[in-house]
Formats: sequence, C-alpha cells, structure tokens
Amino acid sequence: MATNRTFTMLKPDSVEKGFIGAILEKITTSGFRIVALKLTQMTKADAQAFYAVHSERPFYGELVEYMTRGPIVAAILEKDNAVEDFRTLIGATNPAEAAEGTIRKLYAASIGENAVHGSDSDENATIEGAFHFSVREQF
Ligand code: RTP
Ligand code: MG
Repeated sequence: MATNRTFTMLKPDSVEKGFIGAILEKITTSGFRIVALKLTQMTKADAQAFYAVHSERPFYGELVEYMTRGPIVAAILEKDNAVEDFRTLIGATNPAEAAEGTIRKLYAASIGENAVHGSDSDENATIEGAFHFSVREQF
C-alpha cells in the first residue's frame, strides 16, 4: 500500500533563480501539506551518498557538483498517493519532455539542471526524508 509521504528538494538552480516561493506555492496549491522544510546545503559526501544509485552513470560527477554548489530547499510532503502524484506534478526528468504545467516545464532549464527532486518510491521517500530531517523536525 502506498504511504502518504514523499521527499523533495528544490535544487540549487531553483534557489539561485528565486523560484522558492513560486514552486512551494505550486506544491501546496496542488494539495501537498508541508511536513518538514529547510534551506540547507549538501556536502560532496552528502550528494554522493544521496545519488549513490547513479554512481556508475556518466553524469554522476556533474550531478554531485550541481547539487552541492549552493543551498537547496529540502521538504517532506504529505498527500494521498504522495510519491506518484508528486512525480506527476514535477514532470519528466528532461524538461523538454515534461508536460505543460509541470514544475520542470515551468522552472527547469535542462535535463542536468531540472529544478526539483522527487522520491521515486515509498521506500526511498522514507530514506531520503530521514537523510535530511530528524523526527523532531517533522510536523
Ligand atoms: P530526481 O531523482 O532528481 O528526482 O530526478 P529523476 O528521478 O527524474 O531522474 P534520475 O534518473 O533519478 O536522475 C537524477 C538526476 O540526475 C541528473 N541527470 N542528468 N545529464 C544527464 O543526462 C542527466 N540525467 C540525469 C538530473 O538532475 C536528474 O534529476
Ligand atoms: Mg530519481
């Protein structure tokens, strides 16, 4: 059974371009409740661990550089069917292929710098949320 939480990051490009407010507005008006929220910056070790599943991919080094170059907004979100509905809201990995009205269509520049992260499974949502937030930071 699907759990009702997912994890997101507004990636460094979103923060740099001043899109924090607009993206959070889009998320909350799409029915997600913010359970946890913070502005933070990942270390190289953090990003390497977070994206360890991609360690053999050619873009891994670039991905780690990108995700550590400035602050991100990390958040845990709650909604029925949260993981799947949030992936729908953010759109395809490549913004050129993302559906109209999705966050990546609206705010992402390229497949490498694509504005937001969304967990891809309930299991990963739990792991990723715990990576960034203690129990006392979740409401
Ligand atoms: P995310 O994990 O960040 O939500 O993105 P995703 O599931 O849509 O895509 P995934 O395959 O998990 O890739 C993780 C992130 O790596 C970067 N990427 N760059 N240059 C490339 O071909 C390439 N492919 C992926 C993106 O930042 C992508 O979101
Ligand atoms: Mg992914």
